[in-house]
Amino acid sequence: MDSVKEDFYMMVSKECQVPIEPIKRYCEILKDSAAGKLNTKQREAIDEIHYNAARLEQLIHDIVDVQKLNSNRMEFKKDEFKVDEFMLSIIDTCSPMMTEKNIEFVNTNSNKSAITSDKSRLKQVFYNLVQNAVDFVPQEGGKIEIGSNNEGNSIQFYVQDNGIGISEKRKESIFKKFYQVDLSFKRKYGGTGFGLVICKGIVENLDGKIWFESKEGEGTTFYFTIPK
Ligand SMILES: Nc1ncnc2c1ncn2[C@@H]1O[C@H](COP(=O)(O)OP(=O)(O)OP(=O)(O)O)[C@@H](O)[C@H]1O
Ligand SMILES: [Mg+2]
Repeated sequence: MDSVKEDFYMMVSKECQVPIEPIKRYCEILKDSAAGKLNTKQREAIDEIHYNAARLEQLIHDIVDVQKLNSNRMEFKKDEFKVDEFMLSIIDTCSPMMTEKNIEFVNTNSNKSAITSDKSRLKQVFYNLVQNAVDFVPQEGGKIEIGSNNEGNSIQFYVQDNGIGISEKRKESIFKKFYQVDLSFKRKYGGTGFGLVICKGIVENLDGKIWFESKEGEGTTFYFTIPK
């Protein structure tokens, strides 16, 4: 019965992705002025449609990933890659997220090690952690640092922010499904609470560990270790 339910979720999620593609494509066509020049109001409307279509797409991907993790059906593809090049690719992917709040984004990494793991899934973990950091740093003076250290036979990665932090009371709950610290945050920051569940699932499937240290009002650092 459970597997029928899982197949149903997968099928519905996949079908939901189909109409998002043309919505995004037509937004891009309109934004390129391929269908005529847009005035400011029209451009703002298209940007809003595009942004929300992308959010919906992200949500559907997250639902599919949570389902895959629940049923042990997420596939992992391990290849050898260099840590420093990987970190540069994270900077490339995440930099556009920094512009709106003008966040200082630092990569302290010069790690020459190689690692054999699933690069694209690790990138997904970084992306989720950086996205959270972006959500919770202040509007002015936000800083996010990413890096890695060798820890014996593992690499320890981290994402550090100077955001609002996580209170003692709430620390034990944040890896729980759909958990968001406060429902009023939900309106302010959006999101569904899937992000950290997915991060934990991916890291543990790659034989690693994920945890965090946080002080309310000072900031948060998420760490995850992955075997080399
Ligand atoms: N860097 C951080 N600083 C402060 N709080 C955080 C941080 N990262 C996570 N949290 C808290 O943990 C909660 C769960 O995070 P998670 O990424 O799972 O969900 P979300 O970001 O709310 O939604 P989603 O990731 O699905 O868009 C967040 O809502 C937030 O309250
Ligand atoms: Mg998140």
